Amino acid sequence: MKKMFKIAAVAAMVLGCSACSNTQEETTWEDQLIEENKLIVGISPDYPPYESLENGEMVGFDVDMMAELEKYLGVEVEFEQMTFSTIVDAVNLGQVDVGVSGFTYDPERQVLFSDPYLESAQVILTKNDSGIESAADLNGKVVGAQLGTTGADAAAEIEGATVELNQDANILVEALKAGQMDAVVIDILVAQNYEASDSSLVVLEEPLIDEENGIICSTSNELLMEALNDAIAQFKDSDAYEELKTKWGM
Ligand code: ARG
Repeated sequence: MKKMFKIAAVAAMVLGCSACSNTQEETTWEDQLIEENKLIVGISPDYPPYESLENGEMVGFDVDMMAELEKYLGVEVEFEQMTFSTIVDAVNLGQVDVGVSGFTYDPERQVLFSDPYLESAQVILTKNDSGIESAADLNGKVVGAQLGTTGADAAAEIEGATVELNQDANILVEALKAGQMDAVVIDILVAQNYEASDSSLVVLEEPLIDEENGIICSTSNELLMEALNDAIAQFKDSDAYEELKTKWGM
């Protein structure tokens, strides 16, 4: 009986019998996940308050947001820590389903971007005794930025500045504090977070570029992106959205 059904189904597929088409199941985004019932998320926890490590535990707005999206998506979120500059490739190679790391929409990145979940900007973080008041003052100075970020692109545009790239955003801020560089170009919410926790640091008011943050997935995964956008819309409509922004000072 079962076998007969199988043969009938295969025949229907081969013949393209429309009346029998309900025997063919449509592919869903869940079918395209790397592991069943799991959303594997590439993340670079060096970017407080988006994501960072606290006593070995990953915390931040993005981490809490994924716990919210998990509810709407109905699959379990699993984080995989990686260097920021490798996440786009990991997404495209199918090593992770999505990338979540304070990603900024950038048309040069060959991935799908979700609807925005936060506003951002690239800004200059410097020491408050540096005498640097605008990008023009960075002529002849050393400016740090994270490898593979839009901050690195923005830093490269600053006239006369020598750009030093690092894989790790935390190391850049440490180098700035230690006087090894004159400024760091970084997302505004991250810069403000450092400014609030260290009185020797200041964020320059004039942004280099305004941006928006989104979640990324492979260009071959449009169904997943639709599901993510649905979940993001529900999250942004919920009380949790404002609560998390307040919790993380964003
Ligand atoms: N928003 C910037 C970009 O998309 C930097 C993001 C860095 N994120 C991180 N977790 N280190 O290029």
